[in-house]
Amino acid sequence: MPSNRHLLCSLSAALLVGGCGDAPPTSATPRTGPDPWASVLRVAPAVDRNPDPRIVEIDLEARFGEWEYAPGRRVRAMTYNGSVPGPTIEARAGDTVVVHFTNRLDQPTTIHWHGVRVPASMDGSPHSQPPVAPGASFEYRFTVPDAGTFWYHPHVTESVQMERGLYGAIVVRGEHEPRADAEGVLVLDDLLLGADGQIAPTGDLVEQHTGREGAVALVNGRAGAELPIRAGQRQRWRVVNAGSARFYRLALPGHRFTVVGTDGGPVETPRASDELFLVPGDRLDVLVDGTGDPGATAVLQNLPYARGHGAGLTEASDILRLRYAPDPALPALATPAPSPRVEPLATAGVAPRTVTFNEHIDRDAERVVFTINDASYPDVPDVVARVGVTEVWDLVNASEMEHPFHLHGFFFQVVSRNGAPEGERSWEDTIQLRGKERVRIAFRPDERPGHWMYHCHILEHVEHGMMATVRVEP
Ligand code: C2O
Ligand code: CU
Ligand code: CU
Repeated sequence: MPSNRHLLCSLSAALLVGGCGDAPPTSATPRTGPDPWASVLRVAPAVDRNPDPRIVEIDLEARFGEWEYAPGRRVRAMTYNGSVPGPTIEARAGDTVVVHFTNRLDQPTTIHWHGVRVPASMDGSPHSQPPVAPGASFEYRFTVPDAGTFWYHPHVTESVQMERGLYGAIVVRGEHEPRADAEGVLVLDDLLLGADGQIAPTGDLVEQHTGREGAVALVNGRAGAELPIRAGQRQRWRVVNAGSARFYRLALPGHRFTVVGTDGGPVETPRASDELFLVPGDRLDVLVDGTGDPGATAVLQNLPYARGHGAGLTEASDILRLRYAPDPALPALATPAPSPRVEPLATAGVAPRTVTFNEHIDRDAERVVFTINDASYPDVPDVVARVGVTEVWDLVNASEMEHPFHLHGFFFQVVSRNGAPEGERSWEDTIQLRGKERVRIAFRPDERPGHWMYHCHILEHVEHGMMATVRVEP
């Protein structure tokens, strides 16, 4: 029996219709239902040309192209392999990923593997490699040690290249994945269009200050898409916020989400939630049960959220429409099993470092200046850390505006917010840092010395100096 079940497990995993981490189906009813990722929400998977099952070897080309974000609506874009988002890279934890990258743009670029614990030389940051010149190639090669949802994007002129479409998802599966009837990525973004219907050129001081937000809400590069679902069906959404400055506070009236993973992989205990909050760069891995009736519709909304200085949504905006098939409801699936414990990092005796985020306007230069410890990239002194030695940082936001904090290379735990211990432990690489807030984080650099960036993930803020490096010494 077990061997049969395992065979079924690997078959269904191969078909991407769910893993076998917990209990077998509650009834003999075949669990058929629509696959939302066979609809317009489909993102082509990267084509693996290596026959070795533990090596994922792909070709990726950054090139100009047309992006049809809605039927008949096209903009000139920058794409990976011609699509926005770029192909989804799928692997199993422990696999080797080889990316033969060619730059066919008219400007230098790199690829950063956001959240993947790559060696420093493969990180695609300004400190790990010279940018890949137009016409040139670079081979990225690394293993993907952790199961979870990650993404990739350039780390050069981000506010232009990412806004124009250069981003894609990375899905890494582990041994024990929660059971779901369908699974896929929902990469969120927005588009700011000019009067000519094309992506608007870089904006004024206000945009430089608050970051770009566009009125066209996108899921997997599409506006106004519909997601098919069946009553009783369980879908697993791997949500990535690829927007320049858009914060998401997602709600799906009549439904609850079950959060099963954050940036760094599975949470200890799956938790039910009415809302999902994602800052730029963030990921959440959630189960959505089809609790609506056959034939019904539901709308995934982004709820109002003020993130300082008048930025953010003032009214709810529709992101995606769910349409229920007329078929009778499937029996509900059981709550997913807990994952291994997230052990707290021992921080006793570690002297915290203070990292202060701030901003001011340089009136003479007509420029907004974003700072870390009163200096702007590249003039912020490196933090010097050591392999195996725990770091505790107090992230202090001295400004009114929120600055989503991102650390390259290592996952961290949030210890406390404004002195109040964080309820739930998880591994993160990108978190919310509210206006005037103080957040204590802890991380321990593993055996990957080198220069690792940390920065605000609002792309305009990166470009105006809110970035620095931690130098991890052997
Ligand atoms: Cu997605 Cu340096 O970041
Ligand atoms: Cu990153
Ligand atoms: Cu910022």
